[in-house]
Amino acid sequence: MAQHDELIQILNEAVTLEYTAAIQYNQHSMLLTGTNKLLYEEVFEHHAKESLNHAKMWGERIVYLGGIPTTEVGKVQQSTDILQMLEMNLAVEKKAVEIYTRAHAACKHLPTQFMLENHILDEDKDVEELQKLLGKVRIAQTAEPAHRQAASS
Ligand SMILES: [Fe+2]
Ligand SMILES: [Fe+2]
Repeated sequence: MAQHDELIQILNEAVTLEYTAAIQYNQHSMLLTGTNKLLYEEVFEHHAKESLNHAKMWGERIVYLGGIPTTEVGKVQQSTDILQMLEMNLAVEKKAVEIYTRAHAACKHLPTQFMLENHILDEDKDVEELQKLLGKVRIAQTAEPAHRQAASS
């Protein structure tokens, strides 16, 4: 087994996920109707392009490490319901964090390890964005209201 075989295999899982995400976001941008089209079309288009850029970026890295980037695409999840779309996209972003974290653990090439660290932060930003859009982030109920804190200090 060559030095970077395991890493290349995991990065190819990531390339497949990025291609899948690019199609999924693009499809969702087209399936939006009503005011949701106004609210989410640009968001989904942005993520579609970003995912394609990620496939290219990590495909280039695979070649640098001596591998061949995959052209496999995974199963695209689609819906006409905005909340379902956001849940499907959140699942993809969480999967991205999981795959790049696994790649980081298997990585023995220091510059690529730094690249992966940065990239895990990028993908986690996407998880954060979707969780907030879905209202899944609960702001602590026990926190003092801001005006009362200001008054007591
Ligand atoms: Fe990505
Ligand atoms: Fe992402």
